[in-house]
Order: sequence, then structure tokens, then C-alpha cells
Amino acid sequence: MVTRENGAIAVFGATGQQGGAVVDALLARGARVRALVRTPASDRAQALAARGVEPATVRIDASASTVAALEGVAAFYFMTPEANSLEEVEEEVRVGTALVDAAAAARVPHVVFNSVFGADRETGVPHHDSKHRIEEYLRLSGLRATMVRPTAFMENFATVMAPSLEDGTIVVRLPLPDDIALKMISIKDIGQVAAAILLGAADVPGGAVDVVGDEPTGPRIAAAFGERAGLPSRYEALPLSVLGNDLDKAMFREFAKPSAPSDLAAVKAIEPTVRDLAEWIRSTGWTAPADRVRGRGPQSGT
Ligand SMILES: NC(=O)c1ccc[n+]([C@@H]2O[C@H](COP(=O)([O-])OP(=O)(O)OC[C@H]3O[C@@H](n4cnc5c(N)ncnc54)[C@H](OP(=O)(O)O)[C@@H]3O)[C@@H](O)[C@H]2O)c1
Repeated sequence: MVTRENGAIAVFGATGQQGGAVVDALLARGARVRALVRTPASDRAQALAARGVEPATVRIDASASTVAALEGVAAFYFMTPEANSLEEVEEEVRVGTALVDAAAAARVPHVVFNSVFGADRETGVPHHDSKHRIEEYLRLSGLRATMVRPTAFMENFATVMAPSLEDGTIVVRLPLPDDIALKMISIKDIGQVAAAILLGAADVPGGAVDVVGDEPTGPRIAAAFGERAGLPSRYEALPLSVLGNDLDKAMFREFAKPSAPSDLAAVKAIEPTVRDLAEWIRSTGWTAPADRVRGRGPQSGT
């Protein structure tokens, strides 16, 4: 049985990207982990169990299951699922507040909410204001709480924001003016920061930290990939109309507002291994894709 004395950490979202990174970091630090999962038979849940993670089955609409899963844990980490519509935003708030209620009922000593940068205020970005509402709900719960507020995932550059190679030049295109810094962090580093906080290895002044590893402008992002590839680079700012989703439009409209530089040193004080973009690119082994114009990779034609 898990007790507060032997210090199991509960993680919601353990089969996902951020929660998975938190589990990785906790296990690497020797912690006991209890994963709150909805489908214990899923491949991802089974893979966690094989690594020594204790599964606890939860159903958000059956609060007793979540309260039971949180009984006796030393700390609780939760994120909230991605929302791509206003309906899903309401569902996100429902999940988040239900988890806070369960943590309060189980008298969890410390709750870490994986929120988002900017959720200290209302910005009009629906899937960020949802996290603001959950933060407020958590604060009012009376629980000891820490808000971990990640910025854009560097991993987006491996998927939806991937650079292209066009006629020998690395090209990055984003719906962001070229003089605006994009605050970013790698998912692995979110896990490291959250784990340090969950295990009490780091102080978080004010009970909240913006998790930022770098904040380059578009041209600097392109240059980081270009330098890695040994090729020239170019950044092109796109209009917001390229985004198909109104929530993403609201988010990039907010990103385009100039903001104060982040306290990168404060993040490094919690977790010294947090990487900037160039370090993240190196760590992934990224290489330039095939050339769209020449129809071949950077090395193949030289
Ligand atoms: N993309 C970015 O750059 C970025 C930056 C900052 C913040 N964010 C925020 O990050 C969040 C997404 O995080 P992520 O990418 O780590 O998510 P993810 O990989 O999609 O994982 C979602 C996790 O939540 C679990 N889950 C969802 N609904 C559940 C339910 N009803 N009961 C139990 N478990 C449930 C999933 O479990 P199953 O395995 O059972 O599905 C999975 O473990 C969003 O809130 C987004 O706004 C994104």
C-alpha cells in the first residue's frame, strides 16, 4: 500500500507526452509513481506498468475512483487534455476541476498543475483561459499548489512546425511576426522541472513558474536549424489565416503581442539541464529533410 511516508507520486496523463515525461523523470530520480489511467489494458499503460509504475484506474465522472487513486500519495501532478473547440475547452475545465476536487477529498499534500504560459491572467485564448480557471479553482481549494506553466513545445518543430529545405535553404514558416520571440521548452524538460518540484528538490517562489528554455524570434529559429544543417536559412512570417482553428488563431494573436523576456535563470535554478533550442535540436539528432525544390536531401547532391 502506498503511504505518504514512502512517497508515491500520482501522475494524471502518464500515457501522454507531458505526463509521460514527468514519469520518466520521476523514475530516473528513484521515485515511486502511481499513474492515474482510464484504460489500464492499453499498450501505453501496460508499458508503464512494466517499468514499475503502479496503475490506478480512474473515471473522471466517478469521483470515488479518483479519490481512491489519490489516497496516501505524497504529491499529485496533473495536466489537462488538449482542447480544439469551445466544447472541448469546457470538458478540459471539467476534468481539471474534478481532479482538484478529488485531490482535496484525498487531502493530497502538494498538487502540481501543468498549466500554460500566460494562465496567470485571462488572455482571451480559450484553451489558456481554461487553465486560468483551473488555476483559480486550485488556489481556492486551499491545497498546497504549484503551477508549472509550459510554453510552446520544441517538439512541434518535429511535427506541425517542421522546417523545410527548399533549394538548399532551411525555411521556417510560422504565423508570427519576425521580430517576436516565441517562448518554448522541450517536453522532456517540462518533465524534469515538474519532477524536481514534485519531489521537493526545488523551491518555486510565488508557487508558479513559467517553463521556458529559449525564446528566439522566427529568424533565430530558422538560423538554429540552418546552423545545425550547415546551410543558409530563411524565416517567413505567415498570416493568421493559414490556421484552420479559431483557438489556434487566438493563441498566435496572443503570441504576437510583445512580452517581457522570461527568467530563464529561474528555470535553470529548478533544473540545470533545461535546453535551449540549439541544444534540443542537437539532442534529437535532427537532420535536414529532403530538398523540396531539388528533390533530394542536403548531402545527396553534393
Ligand atoms: N502543444 C503545445 O505546444 C503545448 C504547449 C503548452 C501546453 N500545451 C497543453 O498541453 C496539453 C496537452 O498535453 P499533452 O500533449 O501532454 O497531452 P497528450 O499527449 O494528448 O496526453 C493526454 C493524456 O491525458 C489522458 N486523458 C485524457 N482524457 C482523460 C480522461 N478523461 N481520463 C483519464 N485520462 C485522460 C490521456 O490518456 P489516454 O492515454 O487514455 O488517452 C493521456 O495520458 C493541452 O492542455 C495543451 O493545451 C500544449
